Amino acid sequence: MDSFRWTIVGIAAAIVIVVAAALSFILMPGAAPQADARVANSYSGMVPAGQLLRVPVTGIYPGGSPAGLNPDMKNPLAHDPDAVARGAKDFDTFNCSGCHMAHAGGGMGPALSDAAWLYRSSDANIYLDIAQGRGAGMPAFGAMLPDRTIWELVAYVRSISEKPPATFGATTSANPQSPDIEQVPAGKIDTTTPWKFTEPMPPNGEKSGGGPPNANPGN
Ligand code: HEC
Repeated sequence: MDSFRWTIVGIAAAIVIVVAAALSFILMPGAAPQADARVANSYSGMVPAGQLLRVPVTGIYPGGSPAGLNPDMKNPLAHDPDAVARGAKDFDTFNCSGCHMAHAGGGMGPALSDAAWLYRSSDANIYLDIAQGRGAGMPAFGAMLPDRTIWELVAYVRSISEKPPATFGATTSANPQSPDIEQVPAGKIDTTTPWKFTEPMPPNGEKSGGGPPNANPGN
């Protein structure tokens, strides 16, 4: 009977050791890069509403001073190395591209992949554009998207909002009322750096490799 009891105690001890070892792997991964990733992704909450309320949508200040306002509030995900890539996915997932087109090249909604802004360019202004919506057709996504997702979209929109290189071709509408339309290559739908894929426009309109400038007689 004694030896039976000892066997039971032995089995119990073995189980405790195995469970403890497994738990230590789960609870203490220990490796430095994972610890860094946790720090980078640590933002999970709301920016206090009071801070956002002090972000102006205009640059016109009474007396010329923005004192008391907070025009430069930063994206809390600014140091998250993956935020831009996640924002690029969000941009398609939540159908921003349905209006702003692939790479936010511009469609029914204005181009966001340029350096021109209707409602100012700060991180918080872009956040508010998305959360509150804007009058001429921009829906208010604040009730649908978590705070964190909106900041990811802000990171993405900011990453693509550069002035196009001088070599980039602008197509000008035949209608003089309509401004130049900027385009990015639709084949690069996954990129977060669309301007890297632009090609210089040859002076005669022909691409190297030959062929007439417009091979499609229908156009
Ligand atoms: C139904 C079409 C539509 C959808 C969907 C849409 N937008 Fe817009 N967006 C617009 C229009 C139109 C404007 C310009 C509004 C205005 O001038 O008042 C705009 C404006 C903006 C602006 C301000 C641009 C500036 O120059 O200041 C940002 C930023 C923006 N949208 C981002 C987004 C993001 C991110 C999404 C997806 C979550 C999105 N939009 C979804 C139509 C849309």
